[in-house]
Amino acid sequence: MKIISSIEELRAQLRGQLRTVFVPTMGNLHEGHLTLMRLARQHGDPIVASIFVNRLQFGPGEDFEKYPRTFESDVAKLEQEGVYVLFAPTEKDLYPEPQEYRVQPPDGLGNTLEGEFRPGFFTGVCTVVMKLFSCVQPSAAVFGKKDYQQLMIVRNMARQFAVPTQIVAAETHRADDGLALSSRNGYLSEDERAAAPLLFRTLTQVAQQMHAGDRNIAALQAQAMSTLAAEGWQPDYIAVRKRADLQAPSPADLEQGEPLVVLAAAKLGKTRLIDNLEV
Ligand code: PAF
Repeated sequence: MKIISSIEELRAQLRGQLRTVFVPTMGNLHEGHLTLMRLARQHGDPIVASIFVNRLQFGPGEDFEKYPRTFESDVAKLEQEGVYVLFAPTEKDLYPEPQEYRVQPPDGLGNTLEGEFRPGFFTGVCTVVMKLFSCVQPSAAVFGKKDYQQLMIVRNMARQFAVPTQIVAAETHRADDGLALSSRNGYLSEDERAAAPLLFRTLTQVAQQMHAGDRNIAALQAQAMSTLAAEGWQPDYIAVRKRADLQAPSPADLEQGEPLVVLAAAKLGKTRLIDNLEV
């Protein structure tokens, strides 16, 4: 595997490749990331992964400084997965001058859910993803459904900018107890880790109640928030939304069987976890 930090070298290395599949990451790779690499293999060749902790998507007081950086073990894992190039730019490589041009998602999709609780987050994500796409020029790129809203926003962005990259969605990889794998799980204490699967159980409960015909979304959401709060969590949201645009479903949408997804974000101790479940 070639480890490349400069954009020019990356371009030279990938020149002439027409079926590059790209998996962008912020490192601290776990089994969830590795399933993205395996899915990538089904969509082309060579596979290019990136590791870049993108300052632009962290708000003040968020965990940019302490975000886990485990470069050496990440490299070993990517080598095992047959990744051809690891693009690991420094901040100077990717942002040689202040990144004044930004890609801002539309209000409806960008300011709800994660966008409401992490202002600027999706502008940071879209900006770096566009820049990484421009560096790698992949024919396909893989994003996990674990970050459901990010996936939707990147997909819409690629469509609206006519980016010639197919956006491939990967299912969420879960531990045996249901907890979605995430680099931020590493922040949890032993007790918190044991308690953390409650987030997915709560989402499952909401989905089950909906399958059983309960259409009182407001009550379901409120009940789920109380379940978490009663166990000491600080929920930001539990929201049933339309998969198509992540807006709240109308009674007519519910009547017509519009595909839905339940999304959640909640803090357990100091760690903020997100998860979702398609209904
Ligand atoms: O999901 C992530 O790890 C990041 O948001 C991404 C897509 C690599 C952009 O920094």
